[in-house]
Amino acid sequence: MSKNQFGSKIGLIAATVGSAVGLGNIWRFPAVTQANGGAAFLLLYIGCVILLGIPVMLAEFSLGRAGQSDAIGAFRRLAPGKAWWIAGALGILASYIITCFYIVVEGWTLEYLWQSISGDLYAGVGRLEAGGDFSAADAVFLGKMNEYISTPVAPVAFTWLAILINLGVLTGGVQKGIERLSNILLPLLFVLLVALCCVTLTLPGAGAGVEWFLKPDFSAITAGTVINALGQTFFSLSLGMGILITYSAYYPANTKLTPTAAIVALMTLLVALLTGFVIFPAVSSFGLTDHSLTGATLVFQTLPEVFACLPAPQLLSAMFFLLLFVAALTSTVSIIEVSIAFCRERFGMSRFKACLTTILPLPLLSMICSLSFSSLSDFKVFGLTIFDFLDSFATNILLPVVSIGVCIFVGWFAPKGLLKRELTNNDTVRSRIAGAVMFIIRYLAPVLIALILVYTFI
Ligand code: PHE
Repeated sequence: MSKNQFGSKIGLIAATVGSAVGLGNIWRFPAVTQANGGAAFLLLYIGCVILLGIPVMLAEFSLGRAGQSDAIGAFRRLAPGKAWWIAGALGILASYIITCFYIVVEGWTLEYLWQSISGDLYAGVGRLEAGGDFSAADAVFLGKMNEYISTPVAPVAFTWLAILINLGVLTGGVQKGIERLSNILLPLLFVLLVALCCVTLTLPGAGAGVEWFLKPDFSAITAGTVINALGQTFFSLSLGMGILITYSAYYPANTKLTPTAAIVALMTLLVALLTGFVIFPAVSSFGLTDHSLTGATLVFQTLPEVFACLPAPQLLSAMFFLLLFVAALTSTVSIIEVSIAFCRERFGMSRFKACLTTILPLPLLSMICSLSFSSLSDFKVFGLTIFDFLDSFATNILLPVVSIGVCIFVGWFAPKGLLKRELTNNDTVRSRIAGAVMFIIRYLAPVLIALILVYTFI
């Protein structure tokens, strides 16, 4: 078996789920759910994943496996001499930009992991009482968050450490690096998540948080909610980043794409649900619900307060940040592989050389993103810090554009019958949904994704 292929079915699923399950599910999901009213948003998100997420994922899988190349090369092979490769190029650009800021947050998770273990995160806090006055603790944890995130030196150092770890994994290659890592870390992720759920769901008052998370209030749904659910679907399934095109080129010819996509989507949803069961009961149990919970503060300020209310805060906190780091690592590995595959295919580089070429600019570029929370915080692009600008540009503009490109290409312009051939493995297995998938990627997906784009601009 070629080394540039996943070695086993479990391995390829673990790697793809590992890519999908990331900070998007564990850090971003609770924050957007909180901001969009809870259960009703959750239902919308589930609907979007099934109706749109899985079909678009299948389009990327088909393109990648039929193209047998990197994100640009796949388009070039299937449509030689046409300009479709630009969609792939934008996907690679998006993936590289996302890497630059995402790896900074991965660095924070390492830093929090280390500070949980060393005890510094909880120094001077003591045990907090549920329902008590949290104002002093608020100030302490806000101070720590500022210290860990908004100072120039430590966050950069931890980001560089994260880059080194990624380099170590990626030089190992598809089977010995990515696949082996995913096979070990994904089960660990589930174990940690379930263990944390057991703790939070048994807290007094946890029911209120579960109810808020699961009992829909449909009056909370607005156009904005729908757009946010769509955005979360694309981000959480790693669509439009070139990742799935790259990974599916490593799938063996007999991999059944439809069940693979279904498993990846279900596992991603499961992680989002479990994360909700960790966060919302805990937050409601301790009366922290009315804190202004935005992305960063929820996980990096409020949760440490929750842990400080519990026995063994350091242990629980270390478990949580290890979980977050594991989720982030299996995602960054996949997104950096997009550029590595490109360097190898396009310039014929060895894996080692391609890894170095891709990763060498990262320390500098990620440092600039990291410093946008400290020394460079006054430097604004379109009114946003560098970090926020890159996040908005890649997530809100590049990802939808690439996804539309993939859908229109696979739906209308790819060699005839490509999707059906890939979904049926050249007519050797049955596919009951090929027709429906084709309909969605031809009509529904491009229109809905275009809506996200239009909404972003108004
Ligand atoms: N689905 C991933 C996540 O939720 C998206 C992603 C993959 C982002 C790889 C960055 C790197 O985190």
